Amino acid sequence: TLFKVCLVHFMWEPFHLTGTEEGLQAVDRLVRTYKHSCSWFLGPFYSLVRLFHPDYVKPLLLASASITVKDELFYGFLRPWLGQSILLSNGEEWSRRRRLLTPAFHFDILRNYIKIFNHSSDVMHAKWRRLVANGESCLDMFSQISMLTLDSLLKCTFSYNSNCQENSSEYIAAILELSNLIIDRRGRILHHWDWWYWRTPEGRRFKRACDIVHGYLVERFMGAKYEEEKKKKVVDFIDLLLLSKDEEGQGLSDEDVKAEADTFMFAGHDTTASGISWVLYNLSQNQDYQDRCRAEVNDLLQDRQTEDIEWDDLNNLPFTTMCIKESLRLHSPVSAVTRRYTEDMNVPGGRVIPKGSICLLSIYGIHHNPEVWPDPDVYNPMRFDPENSKGRSSHAFIPFSSGPRNCIGQKFAMAEMRVVVALTLRRFRLTSGPEKVRRLPQVVLGAEGGLQLQLETLDPPQE
Ligand code: HEM
Ligand SMILES: *[C@@H]1O[C@H](CO)[C@@H](O)[C@H](O)[C@H]1NC(C)=O
Ligand SMILES: *[C@@H]1O[C@H](CO)[C@@H](O)[C@H](O)[C@H]1NC(C)=O
Ligand SMILES: *[C@@H]1O[C@H](CO)[C@@H](O)[C@H](O)[C@H]1NC(C)=O
Repeated sequence: TLFKVCLVHFMWEPFHLTGTEEGLQAVDRLVRTYKHSCSWFLGPFYSLVRLFHPDYVKPLLLASASITVKDELFYGFLRPWLGQSILLSNGEEWSRRRRLLTPAFHFDILRNYIKIFNHSSDVMHAKWRRLVANGESCLDMFSQISMLTLDSLLKCTFSYNSNCQENSSEYIAAILELSNLIIDRRGRILHHWDWWYWRTPEGRRFKRACDIVHGYLVERFMGAKYEEEKKKKVVDFIDLLLLSKDEEGQGLSDEDVKAEADTFMFAGHDTTASGISWVLYNLSQNQDYQDRCRAEVNDLLQDRQTEDIEWDDLNNLPFTTMCIKESLRLHSPVSAVTRRYTEDMNVPGGRVIPKGSICLLSIYGIHHNPEVWPDPDVYNPMRFDPENSKGRSSHAFIPFSSGPRNCIGQKFAMAEMRVVVALTLRRFRLTSGPEKVRRLPQVVLGAEGGLQLQLETLDPPQE
């Protein structure tokens, strides 16, 4: 294993996992030079294919899940935390879980969560008003918004009112620590080796944080406290997972439900926070777009008694939605996914990807490919005007991946992003912070030193 790890590191380092602004610019150059894909062969055993054109990625993402394998090398570090969950499993095991989980993301369920997004936004905005009134008007969007997304996800998943936006808990600290330790581990070759890792201080911290997160779930499941809360709340993800049954009447075990709940926390909070932060960043750079979004929200909410956005309103925010999509293109939270296939795979031009090769499907590369997106570095929401989207490949825009293993939380994330962006722009004007932003590609796309924006509180519009 260590041998394989070193080899792959050697191939990878200059091209992908450099994890800096320069690393992303290197990908830009690669895409301009090779246009659709490039590959490395190392000895007789390993090959790595990197793809960044929609026509090449499409047959791979749409391939049946039964011939698709998620490479342990890139997903394996998550296993001690997430267990045998939907994100990490393959084949039959995966398809059973996917079938059991899918009903939990039906829009009849998701519509109940809009109130939660409304509430979590209100808590954040009340905090911002306080900070601005005290002269602290320059805030790091990532840290603010990741607390919001964690807060709302804890409510949607466990009906747990963590109050984490005001007061962090041990559980929250453990989740944040796990994400940081995974990045840290990726960057240190010796730590890839399990035997070694569990003997290092970082490995022990990882173990301790996992114990806190898992112990917490046991308490929620088995505790009397949970029974008490169950009586008075809306249906949450855990309730749905516990009730879910397949055709043979088989459900998920308690162990399975825990793994999936951990996975939702992992896959759902940083990704959505990164998405929202970057939209706000690009809108802070362009006041015209920001004003158009604000006018759209204010129009929508005029003559209402309350400030809430409802499920049926989500389709009445077309410009705001275009701004969000353009930001997901330019700053996709997840920059790539990796796969192996148990069969040879055909891609355009009569080319074949030999079975077993590691395929790196570069979402970032596709979204910055000038053959697909002219002037790829320009933020222009009009790209997503329906008129301008005609004739574009179905795989030109894939922030949530695509095919059988696409993001199960896509609709949830789009709904939350729209509510948070709309309410934020209604209540605050955003301008850029003092520092030049350097992107930081880690588990999700962040920014070095955070993403500082300047806030100005707005009075509610007078009708
Ligand atoms: C803007 C926010 C989000 C983005 C950009 C995003 C992106 C993605 C991507 C690219 C994948 C494919 C990963 C792979 O192939 O390895 C994925 C899978 C997944 N996502 Fe998301 N995601 C987001 C939000 C969420 C949320 C809110 C949830 C849950 C509440 C979620 C749950 C999942 C799960 C469970 C999978 C695995 C699905 C499977 O393998 O069948 N995601 N996501
Ligand atoms: C939205 O959040 C605010 C503040 O928490 C709350 O007063 C209001 O009732 C919420 N609206 C809905 C529909 O839950
Ligand atoms: C924050 O949490 C600690 C311990 O959980 C508690 O003692 C304290 O009162 C809390 N503070 C607020 C403002 O809720
Ligand atoms: C949006 O953000 C990117 C940074 O990644 C920047 O290059 C671009 O100029 C920004 N555009 C606008 C209009 O904010």
